[in-house]
Amino acid sequence: MAARGEFSSRTAFVLAASGSAIGLGNIWGFPIKVASNGGGAFVFTYIVLTFILAYPILMAELVIGRHAKADTVKSMLSISGPKTRGLGALTGYWGMMTASLILSFYAIVAGWMMSHAVGSLSSLLGLPDSWFVAESMGRSIAFCALFFTLTIGIVSSGVASGIEKWSTRLMPVLILLIISLIIYIATLPGASQGWAIYLQPDFSKVTEPDLVLDALSQAFFSLSLGVGTMMVYGSYISKSENLPKLGATVAAMDIGIAVLAGMLVIPAMYVAQHNGVVIYDESGNLIESGRLIFNVLPSLFETMGAAGNTVSFLFFVLMSIAALTSSISMLEVPVAYANDSLGVSRKKSAWLVGLAIFAFSLLIIFNMGWLFDGVVNFATQFSEPFIGILFCFFVGWVWKRDKLLGELKEGKPDMEETFFWKVWPAYVRFVCPVIVLALLVRSFDLVELLNRFFN
Ligand code: TRP
Repeated sequence: MAARGEFSSRTAFVLAASGSAIGLGNIWGFPIKVASNGGGAFVFTYIVLTFILAYPILMAELVIGRHAKADTVKSMLSISGPKTRGLGALTGYWGMMTASLILSFYAIVAGWMMSHAVGSLSSLLGLPDSWFVAESMGRSIAFCALFFTLTIGIVSSGVASGIEKWSTRLMPVLILLIISLIIYIATLPGASQGWAIYLQPDFSKVTEPDLVLDALSQAFFSLSLGVGTMMVYGSYISKSENLPKLGATVAAMDIGIAVLAGMLVIPAMYVAQHNGVVIYDESGNLIESGRLIFNVLPSLFETMGAAGNTVSFLFFVLMSIAALTSSISMLEVPVAYANDSLGVSRKKSAWLVGLAIFAFSLLIIFNMGWLFDGVVNFATQFSEPFIGILFCFFVGWVWKRDKLLGELKEGKPDMEETFFWKVWPAYVRFVCPVIVLALLVRSFDLVELLNRFFN
């Protein structure tokens, strides 16, 4: 078997991991949750939860992966004890399955983003665009297939010449696009109302359970936690790096882009309202999120005259790039397993696994009505937090403390002296599992979960 891949530098890892973290969750999910959860209050809760709950779990994943330098199943086995091997392997497999499920619906949505980008380009060129922007099964299938082809193509080229190369190319473009769009939208009438709502937190909402739960699942999803993505990316980090610092940089980038995306999408919504587009329904609730992105924003772009097509094109290119640097990190989880544990070549495993997940996406497209929401909820609201708890359990309770310290010391010999080491181990032992479990139990009883999944 060929040598295992590794990121060529610290920056390469930070861009690839940030590329994974920054995705539709930041640019679509976050602003919409902000708008429907009391503006700045949600932003505040989300940032706090990212640092106190999500960052410690991100670190757990990175440290396990870097220790084992292997796929999620092997990595989990490497830190398991004799009695916990079964559970360790199961956690790895479950993560892999969850990553695949997330990719199956993510690629459908990403396909729609790409079709809107192509549609805007075609109107820019004076060609018809209606097939690209109207809902149809043919369009969903064609663009989902195209998106899978790109994702598989990048993953099959390997860690350094695929994932790293494309993340380092695309992330700067993404940041540039987002900033240019923010500046442009801010100059339009109506934008200032959006800014005001975004920046003035209604603190009375900070303790509402719905808001806290939304913020928690957002924080998990946004940092790509609870499936092993970060564990696998961690396995490609060199032993000479200081992990807590790398993890903090990734978390900060993720929050930073989410906050920036809010500065783009929320003012844009109010510009749309100013131009006569409806954004709140009769009962005063924000209209459903799919329609917000695929109807409200396009109607806004239409009211912008000549600039509209260009802005629309740039916006959907931004979305597509964000989605692509994330989807490669999802596919990498099962591909790393096929490669490391089963010895299948990277090219072959990327295509086989990618096509299998694409087949499942097709199943979702044919059964959109009930399957889509079921898969989203099962994977993101149940599996991810639960697997996150299992990761904490292994790092906090199963893994020998001196071995854990030894791994962290690799890139930071005075680790014992750091604030991180004084606080974090107890944190993953007690605080994270207890809070995540409490929120999980609160949010479902199992019956309701099964109902949601099968209805
Ligand atoms: N974090 C990405 C986003 O915000 C999505 C993502 C990539 C992801 N890899 C993941 C989510 C793994 C969960 C698990 O869009």
